[in-house]
Amino acid sequence: MSDMTDFQRLMRARISTRAFLDTPVGEDEIRDLLDTARWSASGGNLQPWNVHVVAGEARQAVIDAVRARLDEAPFEDESEFGAYPPKLWEPYRTRRFELGEQMYDTIGIPREDKAARLNHLLDNFRFFGAPVGIFFSLDKEMNPNQWGHLGMFIMSFMLAAEDKGLGTCAQEAWMTRHKTIEKTLGLPEDQRIWCGLALGHADKNAKVNTLRSERAAVEEFAVFKGF
Ligand SMILES: Cc1cc2nc3c(=O)[nH]c(=O)nc-3n(C[C@H](O)[C@H](O)[C@H](O)COP(=O)(O)O)c2cc1C
Repeated sequence: MSDMTDFQRLMRARISTRAFLDTPVGEDEIRDLLDTARWSASGGNLQPWNVHVVAGEARQAVIDAVRARLDEAPFEDESEFGAYPPKLWEPYRTRRFELGEQMYDTIGIPREDKAARLNHLLDNFRFFGAPVGIFFSLDKEMNPNQWGHLGMFIMSFMLAAEDKGLGTCAQEAWMTRHKTIEKTLGLPEDQRIWCGLALGHADKNAKVNTLRSERAAVEEFAVFKGF
């Protein structure tokens, strides 16, 4: 690690944080992160991202509204498409499976304990205890390209947060209740929430935050020609 640049270290240090302290994060701090992330690249410089930041009562209102929907209709899915293709193939299937196994291993939930696994998943819907929740939306009419650009913006935001010592977890779990969130936040009809994000100070004592997920080596996904 010692011969790495600060950026290389930052990239490796960021992980998905899934347990937070209740230490608040101020509006100015979040504005500062957004001020950095806005320099993300986007095709045609469209900057298609819209960001909705909730704390305090506004955060609680979203949690309560989604909780109510989950109680009323636990298996409802408000999203127009699944988070993954219906039947994942290799190598993606194994990667996803292994992440799940590593996660439950880390927090000590055995495979048979379906209730505990479900509870862990439901923790998404309280931002894993983070004091700040963020939702990213874009215009419904946007093409897949702009969804990609929004993703790049989210990564920039996560790195900006890491740089300031703050933990994040991007959360597509919220997309299953995006209509409920759009209504609760009073979003205009043309906006479509894709993803949420939990932001706060990581609970360094929480086991779940010790998970360092794996990555395929460069040789597995890159081909070089003409060198
Ligand atoms: C767009 C996006 C959505 C994600 N959604 C969730 C989520 O809903 N819940 C969750 O626990 N993790 C979520 N993750 C975290 C991924 O599981 C995580 O990024 C991946 O396992 C790699 O681990 P790392 O972020 O710790 O490096 C999401 C990540 C991204 C980029």
